[in-house]
Amino acid sequence: MSNKGLRKVDILFSQYSVAPYQILKQTMKKNKADVLTEINESGLRGRGGAGFPTGMKWQIMADEKAEEKYIICNADEGEPGTFKDRKLLVEVPRKVISGMAIAAWITNSTKGYIYLRAEYNYLIPALKKELEVFEEYSKQFGLDFPIEIFSGSGAYVCGEETALIESMEGKRGEPRNKPPFPTQEGYLGKPTLVNNVETLASVSMVCRYGSEKYKSLGTDAQRGSKLFSLSGDSPKEGVHEFELGMKVSDFVAEYGDGDTKAIQVGGVAGYCIPRKNFENTIIGEGNTTGGATMIFNSTRSMYNVIHNYLEFFVEESCGQCTPCRVGTQQLLKGIEAVKVGDKPECYLQDLIKLSKTMKITSKCGLGQSVTNSFTSIITNFPEEMIY
Ligand SMILES: Cc1cc2nc3c(=O)[nH]c(=O)nc-3n(C[C@H](O)[C@H](O)[C@H](O)COP(=O)(O)O)c2cc1C
Ligand code: SF4
Repeated sequence: MSNKGLRKVDILFSQYSVAPYQILKQTMKKNKADVLTEINESGLRGRGGAGFPTGMKWQIMADEKAEEKYIICNADEGEPGTFKDRKLLVEVPRKVISGMAIAAWITNSTKGYIYLRAEYNYLIPALKKELEVFEEYSKQFGLDFPIEIFSGSGAYVCGEETALIESMEGKRGEPRNKPPFPTQEGYLGKPTLVNNVETLASVSMVCRYGSEKYKSLGTDAQRGSKLFSLSGDSPKEGVHEFELGMKVSDFVAEYGDGDTKAIQVGGVAGYCIPRKNFENTIIGEGNTTGGATMIFNSTRSMYNVIHNYLEFFVEESCGQCTPCRVGTQQLLKGIEAVKVGDKPECYLQDLIKLSKTMKITSKCGLGQSVTNSFTSIITNFPEEMIY
């Protein structure tokens, strides 16, 4: 466990007073392979939740040969408790668009899309204005890379990259089997790179500051800085940026209300950490993190918390595969039965086993991740689950 302490930084939202799209212009003066090496060496991993190394994904995409290749900025942001991508699109859209353009330049991609969740449609006029500015500058730099906005339809599962692509193709938003991965066969069957909003903005920062500086932030296990959307029982709700590698105890000391009993890291797809583990848990190390962080104080019922999460999963399961469609319903019914005394406490262990089976047998990350919050809440707060 490597602890860097709680270090607030201001990188992703920093405003700089150079002319528009200068990072892109300066980057395009370099050798493509060198820039890709910089991104690889920065240690940047995807900020959409799964944490795949960004440079490696871009290399795979660059190696694909096709006349048409697409870059998609994933701005679906449907995870409950996350709102960091919206802030980036509102405050520093230029960094996100620059990241898309650098990706297009390196991977020889022909067109870009911003997949925007429907609830963020009010951002479209400002984004379109910014895209006009981008078009003007990119042409000056000799880059032919049009970007369009695609408005989603409000399903959480459409944030999963293959469901997102299905929905862009006008089909039901249901995840595909992988392989083939989108970089091999994505939108309209062409190689497609899907990256999170924050990942793309972070690439711009790697290009601006260089991999050495970026890599000096964080720890060996996780490099760079990261945005956290903080909600719940905190006097300081909002979006905060930190160097990666801080202990939960440091985070809670700064952002809790003095009565924190648990913290959920990585949103509903992540883990619940009880007070007894605050000291020995590093946020993001061994617990997935898209950045949604919820603080619960002693007035909160953890039964209500997991009940709420399960209702969300039941609602958002696309229903395509049985373990997820039926499993989410059974978990919900199961905890309700234990709570009213229709099932004994030991039944919770059967439910944990079911959630672990869902992890192995579900088709996509939605069904696979249910066990994270389920097992961590049930195991740490069994006394709150019973009659
Ligand atoms: C149910 C589900 C919802 C997801 N929602 C999002 C989302 O809203 N935004 C996002 O960037 N990634 C989301 N992802 C992850 C994407 O599938 C994909 O891994 C990500 O966009 C890749 O970008 P990155 O490499 O920059 O992290 C979701 C995954 C699942 C399983
Ligand atoms: S795991 Fe759930 S959301 Fe994913 S494909 Fe299966 S039913 Fe759909």
